[in-house]
Amino acid sequence: MLLHDESPLAVEAREKSFILGTYARTSFHPRSGRGARLVDADGHIYWDLLGGIAVNVLGHQHPRLVKTLKDGSKELLHVSNLFYHPAQGILGERLVRASGLLRAFFCNSGTEANEAALKFARLANPGKSEIVALEESFHGRTLGSLSLTGHAAYRTPFEPLVPGAKFVAPNDIAALEAAVNEKTNAIFLEPVLGEGGIVPLTDEYLAAARRLADRTGAILIFDEIQCGLGRTGTLFAYQHSGIVPDIVTLAKPLGGGLPLGAVLTGEAIEGVVKPGHHGTTFGGNPLACRLGNAVLDEIEQSALLARVREIGDWFGAELRALQSRTPAIVEVRGLGMMWGIELDRPAKEIAAQLLAKGFVIGTARDNVLRLLPPYITPKKAFVEFVAAFEEVLSGCRVVELSIAGQPDNPTTRQLAGQGAISK
Ligand SMILES: Cc1ncc(COP(=O)(O)O)c(C=O)c1O
Repeated sequence: MLLHDESPLAVEAREKSFILGTYARTSFHPRSGRGARLVDADGHIYWDLLGGIAVNVLGHQHPRLVKTLKDGSKELLHVSNLFYHPAQGILGERLVRASGLLRAFFCNSGTEANEAALKFARLANPGKSEIVALEESFHGRTLGSLSLTGHAAYRTPFEPLVPGAKFVAPNDIAALEAAVNEKTNAIFLEPVLGEGGIVPLTDEYLAAARRLADRTGAILIFDEIQCGLGRTGTLFAYQHSGIVPDIVTLAKPLGGGLPLGAVLTGEAIEGVVKPGHHGTTFGGNPLACRLGNAVLDEIEQSALLARVREIGDWFGAELRALQSRTPAIVEVRGLGMMWGIELDRPAKEIAAQLLAKGFVIGTARDNVLRLLPPYITPKKAFVEFVAAFEEVLSGCRVVELSIAGQPDNPTTRQLAGQGAISK
């Protein structure tokens, strides 16, 4: 193989020349990681509080995932969906039993899971074309999922989209009641809006959606691609409310880092999906499904849901205490390992300063910091985050944007004392 220059400058220059500019990438070059830590190309160490945008729930290089990958690679990497292999059915059974639903379909990504859910709802409700979704929701980038994505800036360049979407404000039960009627094919909700700024839907709102779906025959679909699989402290976010949807969609953490999405369907979809209605070449491939089973094993055997709840409750209280002494924080929202911190200023600038202090975090909308850390993240990462965040907001920030790994950074000194991650 040809040797390529992999220095950060060369990597950025090559991308600028040859990669289509769909991403406004941050100039950050993670190259390895272990647990909740990432190491960049220069050897600087960071706490990863974004977890690949909710993918890396077991952190990096988790021994169970590494072993599953090694063992799985000695078998078949790919089997056509025309044939059988055991891993898909095992993962399907586990998800179905845990969800209270009846069947699983596997695909490769979140947007594909939502596309499949839309098609299944069409089959279940022929002739009904309206879909009720939420303002500021995010369901994916393919045309069907995009049609239901409430953030108008994502949609408008691609119109005309799939017709029939109606958007209502989250948690406004009266608006939902006004929008849902006999023509409604499906109600599409994220139990906790992710891209929309970490907005949990109330139990009353989910119950109202269930009631309206039952009354009109609409299919109730929960998109748990970002908030599902343990992120809120229950395996499915809807389990906090006790409201069970007709369809739930999953992706991000499901494949342990490899692409894997799933659609779980209930009674309303029984018997309507026939061979030939839907399919995929790669969806539910053996290796991704084995990794999915390993993710579930680890969540169960290491009691990670209890951990997510406990750390989440404590961290939420810490953030709210910080809010009470910091006017720049407008609101703190979230639960478990899913937090949004709404600021009175642009979030990207603050995220950049926190990155320079050794914390990888995300943003949502213009003014929300978004944290989606691995479930195994140690408490001290959050303690250090709160201290660094307070320092940044109080204005006594390290103006030269020192990077974790450099001696003038207190966070770095503590991290360095715990041993660097080998590259
Ligand atoms: C709630 C939700 N739905 C759907 C998607 C789309 O998933 P993917 O990027 O895997 O297509 C995302 C991605 O961020 C998401 O957060």
